[in-house]
Amino acid sequence: MKVTNFKKELTSLIEEKKNKGKTVGFVPTMGALHNGHLSLIKKASEECDIVVCSIFVNPTQFNVSSDLDKYPRTLEADKKLIEDYCDILFFPESPEEVYGAKMEMIEFDFEGLENELEGEFRPGHFQGMANVVAKFLTIVNSDKAYFGLKDFQQYKIVCKLVELIKLDTEIVGCAIIREENGLARSSRNELLTKEGREAASVISYAMNYILKYHSCFTVIEIQKKAKAMISGIIEVEYLEIRDSNSLLNFENWEDSKEVFVSFAGHIDGVRLIDNVRF
Ligand code: PAJ
Repeated sequence: MKVTNFKKELTSLIEEKKNKGKTVGFVPTMGALHNGHLSLIKKASEECDIVVCSIFVNPTQFNVSSDLDKYPRTLEADKKLIEDYCDILFFPESPEEVYGAKMEMIEFDFEGLENELEGEFRPGHFQGMANVVAKFLTIVNSDKAYFGLKDFQQYKIVCKLVELIKLDTEIVGCAIIREENGLARSSRNELLTKEGREAASVISYAMNYILKYHSCFTVIEIQKKAKAMISGIIEVEYLEIRDSNSLLNFENWEDSKEVFVSFAGHIDGVRLIDNVRF
């Protein structure tokens, strides 16, 4: 695995491969890598000749600066985890290397997708995320780019982004990797107590309850039931049943072709998110 800190070098490494007719898959991350990230990188290596991965803790997507400071940085372990599947790792030496000296930001029009759910609780987060992803996708210009469905709203916004900036890169949504008890894999899980980690299994339990029994209840009824299952154990920020395309609320099951249940909440002072689609 070749590691570079500079976009110029990255571009020439990729160009060299493309000139030999190789296809390129790209996986952007913020590091502190685990099996969830690795599943994206493995998928990219199955589908493309060359895998490019980035590790960059993007300052513009953190609306609370203490979260940015606290974000785990585990570069050496990350490299070990991915080296068998990744060909080129981009680890920018500074935010300026990605954004340019002026750190200029674009305000994208995602037609409101960015203001729902996570957008309401993390103002500016999706604009910051989209700016860095736009920079990376443009630099790497890969055939495919891989995003986890754990961050379903992020995935939807990135799909819209490639339309807006007119890139040919195909955006591939990848299944959520879970722990044995159903908890979605996240680097934040390491911050939970043993009891908290066990108790957090109620999140996927309640979401699967909606998946299984939705037809027996109205949208509002089952949303309330699932919320009640979780809220004794976890401080619920939101648990919402939404349409997968518009990300908006709907009243009757017939009103949505593809449903998406989205959760965010806190346990042991750790913020967890999860979602399911059906
Ligand atoms: P990060 O949180 O590091 O996640 C990188 C990618 O890994 C995202 O696409 C995320 O959805 C995916 N991922 C994380 N946990 C997963 C799991 N348990 N199962 C499947 N996929 C999982 O998301 C970001 O970084 C940033 O916003 C980024 C896109 C890199 C832009 O800065």
